Amino acid sequence: MTIIAPSILAANFAFLGDEVRSIEAAGADWVHIDIMDNHFVPNLTFGPPIVGMIRPVTKLLFDAHLMVENPQSLFPALADAGVDRITVHPEACTHLHRTLTDIRSRGIKAGVALNPHTPLSVLEYVLDEIDLVLIMTINPGFGGQSFLPAMLPKLRDLRAMLERRGRNDIFIQVDGGINADTAKQVKEAGANSLVAGTYVFGHEDRAAAIASLR
Ligand code: DX5
Ligand code: ZN
Repeated sequence: MTIIAPSILAANFAFLGDEVRSIEAAGADWVHIDIMDNHFVPNLTFGPPIVGMIRPVTKLLFDAHLMVENPQSLFPALADAGVDRITVHPEACTHLHRTLTDIRSRGIKAGVALNPHTPLSVLEYVLDEIDLVLIMTINPGFGGQSFLPAMLPKLRDLRAMLERRGRNDIFIQVDGGINADTAKQVKEAGANSLVAGTYVFGHEDRAAAIASLR
């Protein structure tokens, strides 16, 4: 079973509540929420207050992807806002192990996001603390970029690593440049949670777009 997580980065923010409702009606599983601070990545989005405002409009799980320095300082407000999952980048966490256990201590699922250049070895000693690995298939910061095919062998290596460690319960998520064509490739390489912004929100028939990713 493949999880589809449309990224609201590509939504029309003037109608954010309606946009979130539309992806729920179209069959999405999670709402992917890209939080950017213009430090870790060269772009700025939104923070916990806006996340809290859209929480009541949907039953979908909230999958927060933190592209910020000092992500841990946002955890209390994100927990209050009702997020279900938090994914952090190791480059933004001096004490990654502590950060992951902090997320889980709040009853929130923890994920680690790897930039295209970041090796899988960073996961080796924190695998017991995580529920999801996000393989970035673009450089983070913006929607609408092209999928990096060099991430396909990385996905296969991650799938093998999780199998070796008996951790097939950990989600393998991909983010960036996902459409019907690249979805097929990443699923074959082992991904089972697909983030898609432009492809889903840019489609007139969002239910068809989501179905084509599955
Ligand atoms: C970019 C974000 C992505 C983005 C993907 O840093 O992490 O979630 O929304 O956008 P698309 O699907 O347009 O590549
Ligand atoms: Zn993202």
